[in-house]
Amino acid sequence: EIVEAGGQVLLPGFVDLHTHLREPGREDTETIETGSAAAALGGYTAVFAMANTDPVADNAVIVDHVWRRGQEVGLVDVHPVGAVTVGLKGEKLAELGTMAKSQAQVKVFSDDGLCVADPLLMRRALEYSTALDVVIAQHAEEPRLTVGAQAHEGERAARLGYTGWPAAAEESIVARDCLLARHANARLHVCHVSTSGTADVLAWAKDRGTKVSAEVTPHHLLLTDERLATYDPVNKVNPPLRTESDAEKLRTALAEGVIDCVATDHAPHAVQDKDTEWSAARPGMLGLQTALSIVAETMVRTGLLDWRGVARVMSERPAEIGNLADQGRPIAVGEPANLTLVDPDAEWTVRGAELASIAANTPYEGMRLPGVVTATLLRGRLTARDGKVC
Ligand code: DOR
Ligand code: ZN
Ligand code: ZN
Ligand code: ZN
Repeated sequence: EIVEAGGQVLLPGFVDLHTHLREPGREDTETIETGSAAAALGGYTAVFAMANTDPVADNAVIVDHVWRRGQEVGLVDVHPVGAVTVGLKGEKLAELGTMAKSQAQVKVFSDDGLCVADPLLMRRALEYSTALDVVIAQHAEEPRLTVGAQAHEGERAARLGYTGWPAAAEESIVARDCLLARHANARLHVCHVSTSGTADVLAWAKDRGTKVSAEVTPHHLLLTDERLATYDPVNKVNPPLRTESDAEKLRTALAEGVIDCVATDHAPHAVQDKDTEWSAARPGMLGLQTALSIVAETMVRTGLLDWRGVARVMSERPAEIGNLADQGRPIAVGEPANLTLVDPDAEWTVRGAELASIAANTPYEGMRLPGVVTATLLRGRLTARDGKVC
């Protein structure tokens, strides 16, 4: 099939280092099939599926299931992220080697929630990761500083009576882990950076040669805790939406390479888990189908990145960080192509109900956004075209 591409931008297929699919465990909110459709429509050719499923992806049986199911669906490569620790408690290291050598060939290990808080466990994980040539992606927060936290700690949360979540909870763990990674001569990846102080810590660590990379979510680039005033739990997310000055600093840090890439933290939730009072609502928001548009809005329209830069933060850097040899590269002659075609001038209106995910918890409901993905190709085959899955 011939794709008409006049006036459009051709990019290497996007790679998402941080996607929550809910299989196994919460297939009422997202499956590998529906999440793959959302990914293809969003311009992705590879996603990393986070380990906080039910049961947790802490063994070869589960990671192999996720990988094989993704290949069966065939819309996007679904690379399972292995859990660093057994279960969600974070007390004991999982068998990283078994997962790395399984059929899924796990390349990234992480945890969600109150995990790898123990410094000795983190040190062991980092040492182990070097031997295996895998990367530890840390969901940085100091749990002893975030007990019961519901929103960014600051004036706005205080006014609304929400328990605050201090920036220092994130920054202290990122600083600690950068020091530990340097000590272990290991590679560390920092998930969803949300504060301006974390960007400072990363710049310092990179300056002294630490092998650290970092991601920022589209929602932390665009949205702020101003959204708290709506009382709408669609805006509840971990880490929380921060201040305008944090968002501004994250955008510059991404443009300058202090933050390496964009990752969605796509987190589907059921209506009953979101459409409830703020304190009871689950944290997280959809991201796969809106990521490119939010990057176009916050980074391209503002002149912070050109489309070459978009290729870097959406595809090349995440492919390098996730050790994917077949993604994020310019294509050589005769090589099957992973490509995304974007109409930079077209706009669309976000409707949660129309997104491919089973869940509909988008914070961009009704917003008109620039940048439309018109085609996605996985190994030379169309997976999405003009808003429809192929
Ligand atoms: O808001 C979030 N939701 N942040 C995370 O890191 C986890 C995610 C989820 O699994 O829902
Ligand atoms: Zn864990
Ligand atoms: Zn997280
Ligand atoms: Zn996450």
